Amino acid sequence: MSQENDRLLGHADEADGIDEYDNPLPDWWVGLFWLTIVWAIGYSLHYHVIANRSQERALANEMAAAEARWPAEEAATRMSAAELDVTDDAISRGRTLYGQYCVACHGVDQEGGIGPSFLDTEWIHGGQADDILRTIVEGVPAKGMVPWEGVLSPTQINDVAAFVISRHSEATGRPIADIVGEGADPPP
Ligand code: HEC
Repeated sequence: MSQENDRLLGHADEADGIDEYDNPLPDWWVGLFWLTIVWAIGYSLHYHVIANRSQERALANEMAAAEARWPAEEAATRMSAAELDVTDDAISRGRTLYGQYCVACHGVDQEGGIGPSFLDTEWIHGGQADDILRTIVEGVPAKGMVPWEGVLSPTQINDVAAFVISRHSEATGRPIADIVGEGADPPP
């Protein structure tokens, strides 16, 4: 930097005696500045377009890898009525689970409370085994019914559903085969 550049701007009086030069920035500095701009354009192009390393893509990749590593647990939990096991053993295990997880809302005798009774012929979300399984798995979060997927294992969901179905059958006289089978909801 040459001496003739060092021209004072002359407002030291306004700035507690601090003087300021009006010198151009050194070329290397300006060069770096432009380089960062050129770099940013190139890098953005590379990141978003050429290599497409966007966060969305990274997330999609991670989800795909997770799906490959822990394959559809969901398929296991979303069991269908056809796979439902309504044996006495399942029902009795379901009774214990009911006492642990469901009794607070559906009542000691399944007569209802915060949640609906299972002893009448009314179902809000359908009274076929498939509907009951789906309600238990997915819950009705907006109405206070917990989604049990992930809390209970697929077997536990089977058992507690078997218990609900057997209690409903006992109370209404509707045969279990009818609930588990393909039949339509009974008329109310
Ligand atoms: C925190 C309270 C709560 C708990 C605990 C709870 N439920 Fe529910 N449940 C509800 C409510 C509230 C509804 C009604 C949802 C609606 O109105 O749509 C419901 C609905 C249901 C239904 C559908 C009833 C119908 O008429 O279609 C089934 C089946 C059911 N619950 C089973 C269970 C089982 C099995 C458990 C235990 C594993 C359980 N619930 C635990 C609150 C609860």
